[in-house]
Amino acid sequence: MKKLAKTWTLWGLAALLVCALAACGTGGGEEAPEETPEAASSLDYMVLVNKLNPLPEGWEEDLETETFTNTAGWEVEVEKKAYDAYLSLKEDLEAEGVYVDLDSARRSVAKQQEIMDDFIEKYGEDYAKKTVAEPGYSEHHTGLALDLYLIIDGQDVTENEDMIQYPEIWAKIHEKLADHGFILRYLPDKEQITGYGYEPWHIRYLDDPAAAAEIMDRGITLEGYLGAVNETDVSIDYGSSGLYTREELEEAAVQIKCQFAAWEGCEMHSLRYAGDECNTEENLTWLNSLNEGAGYTQVCEFLCDFHSPKEGGGAWEPDQDYLDYQWWLARTEDGGWEIVSWGY
Ligand code: DAL
Ligand code: ZN
Repeated sequence: MKKLAKTWTLWGLAALLVCALAACGTGGGEEAPEETPEAASSLDYMVLVNKLNPLPEGWEEDLETETFTNTAGWEVEVEKKAYDAYLSLKEDLEAEGVYVDLDSARRSVAKQQEIMDDFIEKYGEDYAKKTVAEPGYSEHHTGLALDLYLIIDGQDVTENEDMIQYPEIWAKIHEKLADHGFILRYLPDKEQITGYGYEPWHIRYLDDPAAAAEIMDRGITLEGYLGAVNETDVSIDYGSSGLYTREELEEAAVQIKCQFAAWEGCEMHSLRYAGDECNTEENLTWLNSLNEGAGYTQVCEFLCDFHSPKEGGGAWEPDQDYLDYQWWLARTEDGGWEIVSWGY
């Protein structure tokens, strides 16, 4: 987030602010404090914390947690109701011969920074940013996000690359989530919406089994359920490039789709790579001038067609087709793509 926000143009920041406020819904915690017991302990269990929405201010005021020691000997802190729900999920799973424990649940901003630094050191910045949330923007800060690990034949399986080898066990776990008020938060093929790749272990407590069941049955994201984004699938044309690999272009497209997802009511119809001729010295100089000191060395441009919402709003005319809308991204020698500018 920090990295992207730094480089967005003024329009981008304005759009982000509008969308972030809209998407936050009731998560802001600014309601008048009433002196009733209910208000004193009311936590917004549907709170949306993602790349565009940080942990609401004052979250801790209503947060009650439990701390326990897992089978690996680590202390884990979980929001109280989420912990009870987790215990009932665990019991339900054990009846089916599936054993799990919690690797991590509530994390402080400092802990998230530690994890981020560790991932950057181990796997590089690109992978780290796709896998770990920026401190302040992690759902783990809420205490409602739980990372499971598997216990197979009495052995703890805690590493992501090992856990991912057991899709049949995860399928059994995912089937039970909604009954206990949980959803699977980072679905496969929804990276453009959530901003993160598939995480079979990361579950999120909603305190609402019916909402959880709807989300799980429809295979949608929390963003989609809350109406913070439009979950339509967009066809992407990567063309042919002698400069960038398909994977590099996919990374750029994810950034765009992620940002676009916050443009409430807008529907993207297509997205296409504009071609290698976008990587000129002139464009490089232009993008470097928009973000002084960035030191970009490569440029990539995408074009999209989209439709604005019926009632308009933001920067959009109502109910209009916007064609060949430009997205300009740049990167440094060892960095990932950043959206530096968009528009006509
Ligand atoms: N792995 C998730 C995205 C987090 O760091 O919050
Ligand atoms: Zn997680």
